Amino acid sequence: MEIIAHRGASGDFPENTLLAIEQALLQGADAIEIDVYAVEDELIVIHDPKLERTTNGSGTIYQHALSYLLQLDAGQGQRIPTLWQVLQLTHGKCWLNIELKGKNTAEPLLALLTKAEQQLGLDPAQLLVSSFNHHLLLQLQQACPALKLGALTASLQLNYARYVADLKFYSIHCDVNFIDQSLVDDAHALGLKAYVYTVDELEDIHAMQQLGVDGIFTNYPARSRVIASEH
Ligand code: G3P
Ligand code: CA
Repeated sequence: MEIIAHRGASGDFPENTLLAIEQALLQGADAIEIDVYAVEDELIVIHDPKLERTTNGSGTIYQHALSYLLQLDAGQGQRIPTLWQVLQLTHGKCWLNIELKGKNTAEPLLALLTKAEQQLGLDPAQLLVSSFNHHLLLQLQQACPALKLGALTASLQLNYARYVADLKFYSIHCDVNFIDQSLVDDAHALGLKAYVYTVDELEDIHAMQQLGVDGIFTNYPARSRVIASEH
């Protein structure tokens, strides 16, 4: 079962920052999940459209210039990173799950993939791009067939797995509160990976192992690895 650091090692460090990502790498995470929004054709790494919870800014990201957003304190002196910075940091070290949030992310992502291919030698197949917006993912698939795509779902069951298989997704990403054996089995029968968020507690980690899921998103990658290895 793969251990995917949710917003980096966000249980102990400021979420979606380079520090949290560095710490997740040190903790031996197999992968890192981050959330991105498009602002002025740049992709920035932050979970909420509102700034108050994770930064010293106020209002929404769309109310501000990129230069303002990038100088905010995101905790422990960290800044809001750009996706380009995260790609530079993680390339060759672990795989990356980019969750697209907000509007107008397709074009800047495709432009960034071209840049990363040219400057880092990054193969798009090393990335897993996910979103609750599946129309957006289809648009990306048409533009860049090599990209792995993950369909996020909070609560849809059973037939849903067939739906995403038709759309040639790589994985389904399910809420831990709604996952069950039939959904995992359905996903696997269709050749899809089943990833589950957000799994931090011992009982949940063991339950996910019992279900045979392929990976968990966790805020505590090191601790979750230990718990998983004991079962
Ligand atoms: O990608 C899995 C999970 O992160 C989706 O929910 O709200 O934490 O972005 P959220
Ligand atoms: Ca996310």
